[in-house]
Amino acid sequence: MGEPYPKVIAHDLTRAFGRGPRAVAALGPLDLTVAPGEFVCLVGPSGCGKSTLLRIAAGLLRPSNGTLEIRTAGPRPAAMIFQDYGIYDWKTVQANVRFGLDVQRVPRREADARAAGWLSRLGLADFAHAYPATLSGGMRQRVAIARALAVEPELLLMDEPFAALDAQLRTILQDELLELTQALRTTTLFITHSLEEAIVLGDRVLVMSARPGRIIAEHRPPFPRPRTGDVRATPEFSALKSELWDLLRKEAVPA
Ligand SMILES: Nc1ncnc2c1ncn2[C@@H]1O[C@H](COP(=O)(O)OP(=O)(O)OP(=O)(O)O)[C@@H](O)[C@H]1O
Ligand SMILES: [Mg+2]
Repeated sequence: MGEPYPKVIAHDLTRAFGRGPRAVAALGPLDLTVAPGEFVCLVGPSGCGKSTLLRIAAGLLRPSNGTLEIRTAGPRPAAMIFQDYGIYDWKTVQANVRFGLDVQRVPRREADARAAGWLSRLGLADFAHAYPATLSGGMRQRVAIARALAVEPELLLMDEPFAALDAQLRTILQDELLELTQALRTTTLFITHSLEEAIVLGDRVLVMSARPGRIIAEHRPPFPRPRTGDVRATPEFSALKSELWDLLRKEAVPA
């Protein structure tokens, strides 16, 4: 038996921006629980409040109403990958990846080895001493991914982490993320616009409505764990993809 309590519990959560007649209802009301070790993917139309939800989960934004509670237990922290990378321009690539390990007080030699390992996995070994401003968008995004994964977080919050990558690298990283989160039982809340990505990675795929985003459907890709990228080639995969696409198409067309 695993730990009994969910890692993430949102109840009646809403968020609006602005006040009075100009207020924009961005999110909710929304209820969500994420169990320990569970990988939950969120898909939904642009502007429906996905990033808002993740920023509330990361403690960067307060709910307007309702609650969102994070229950992490151990010394492994929560880590977030932002849609706009959120890496430090004044630190080198290597220093960016080391940052979380330094905060965790991982001994220097181990931190160096772990950072180097993630840099090479993500094809950044030759750029360890470069500054982010000199990198391409996809490379900066890989720095953000390396930094978050290097700390082996207990809770991983990812906001379209693979959006700027080419298709091949995206597939490779999906497979790596599968392996890693299954090995470490990392609880993950993952936002993506790619239905394929959501189906490959998720224990559950939650479909959100147009703004203000609510959860309108929940699907469990029928693939047992441990899972590999091979599920992409199955008929169940294609079937679920078209089912989700039908749902999403209705939400994506502006009213
Ligand atoms: N800081 C802010 N101030 C005002 N409005 C905001 C702010 N952040 C988000 N919003 C509004 O809230 C709504 C939801 O934004 P959010 O970024 O959460 O959408 P999203 O689902 O992540 O979209 P995308 O898929 O395009 O990234 C949008 O209408 C946006 O304009
Ligand atoms: Mg967003």
